[in-house]
Amino acid sequence: MDSYQALLILNIFLLLKFTLATPCNFPAIFNFGDSNSDTGGLSAAFGAAPPPNGETFFKKPAGRYCDGRLVIDFIANSLGLPYLDAYLDSIGTNFSHGANFATAGSTIRRENRTLFQSGFSPFSLDVQTWQFNQFINRSQFAYEKGGVYREILPTQDIFSKALYTFDIGQNDLTSGYFTNMTTNEVKGYLPDLMQRFTNLVKVIHDLGGRYFWIHSTGPIGCLPYVLVRVPAIAAKKDQVGCGEVFNEVAQLFNAKLKETVAQLRKDLPSATFTYVDVYSAKYEMFKNPAKHGFEEPLISCCGHGGKYNYDVNAGCGATIRVNNTEILIGKSCPEPLKKVCWDGIHYTEAANRFIFEQIADGKFSDPPVPLKLACLHKV
Ligand SMILES: *[C@@H]1O[C@H](CO)[C@@H](O)[C@H](O)[C@H]1NC(C)=O
Ligand SMILES: *[C@@H]1O[C@H](CO)[C@@H](O)[C@H](O)[C@H]1NC(C)=O
Ligand SMILES: *[C@@H]1O[C@H](CO)[C@@H](O)[C@H](O)[C@H]1NC(C)=O
Ligand SMILES: *[C@@H]1O[C@H](CO)[C@@H](O)[C@H](O)[C@H]1NC(C)=O
Ligand SMILES: *[C@@H]1O[C@H](CO)[C@@H](O)[C@H](O)[C@H]1NC(C)=O
Repeated sequence: MDSYQALLILNIFLLLKFTLATPCNFPAIFNFGDSNSDTGGLSAAFGAAPPPNGETFFKKPAGRYCDGRLVIDFIANSLGLPYLDAYLDSIGTNFSHGANFATAGSTIRRENRTLFQSGFSPFSLDVQTWQFNQFINRSQFAYEKGGVYREILPTQDIFSKALYTFDIGQNDLTSGYFTNMTTNEVKGYLPDLMQRFTNLVKVIHDLGGRYFWIHSTGPIGCLPYVLVRVPAIAAKKDQVGCGEVFNEVAQLFNAKLKETVAQLRKDLPSATFTYVDVYSAKYEMFKNPAKHGFEEPLISCCGHGGKYNYDVNAGCGATIRVNNTEILIGKSCPEPLKKVCWDGIHYTEAANRFIFEQIADGKFSDPPVPLKLACLHKV
């Protein structure tokens, strides 16, 4: 019996245990993070994610770096809430049931180089918390004006009842590697990341947040953009073809994040914290793809060329100009539903659905609480 099967059995006990508990009925979600949960932030600020992004579900680009929905979309849907609009999106948005502060390329600590130089987002986690602070004040001011604002903005009482979700850290790890740091140098700044994360969660708690749902970072060594951009370190592969060193660093980050969340739980007894081992849910797709209906998990669905169908200079949606005509070279694959990796960096909707189904019932969580019960203090 491997650890995955052990978890499945544990899951049966959890299901029995929670059958009688009353769900939390979260009225809203406020999300913080990077492209793993960006539902339109970076697109609103720096130009839309191009087609074929969105092709599977939305049938058009929808601000997500994915063919369809993200884990955060499945989370919102399962809690009976609409998909989250990006705080940065100024057109047609409705924040009555939450807001999304995540942007693709976001980091916990600030980058020193601009997006145009590094590709990383200027909306680091500290900036996202300032935006959240403004969101509270300004939404309440506008709400008081009445009219349509009462339909598209939350009431004051929502902030202490909402679920606060986090998925960030992946870009802090790649940022070091992409600037030629050694693994020891990357490991060296993990405590700084944890300190910053702690401080920012405390800011959100001070602003009224009480229910926190925190995702670990994924196996970055299984993603083509890391394997292609840092070939020397990627040379050491594990048994499924992922870059072993990157995954060790991701797991070290996660071990520290889990400790950090445990400390936050002690420091903020009025709040509830759930740490979610998303890493294991993601790695399972690379380890046993066929078991879950996937094929060639390391090969990008949408892209162009190379061993992984991923080219740093011509990503998903890339076009070239031939004889005055734009030709799409960053094309989608025939069967995105069978793919894990969408564009060399992000997961497909099928993979995101799988991840959501794995984490929703609590078997990957500490404490092992299902999403719907993430407001409960004791298990
Ligand atoms: C940015 O520069 C400061 C000062 O040199 C340095 O301490 C910090 O580590 C840098 N941040 C990143 C993400 O490289
Ligand atoms: C929001 O309002 C609170 C309470 O009125 C105030 O303390 C805080 O400074 C305000 N924040 C911003 C960003 O305006
Ligand atoms: C905003 O969303 C809420 C909740 O789904 C809904 O009741 C309301 O009608 C929406 N309003 C607008 C203008 O979209
Ligand atoms: C990292 O090293 C490569 C190869 O030596 C070099 O081309 C690149 O400019 C370096 N990147 C940074 C950010 O120093
Ligand atoms: C572009 O135009 C040139 C000159 O008419 C022609 O020889 C060439 O085949 C064209 N290339 C493509 C890809 O259509």
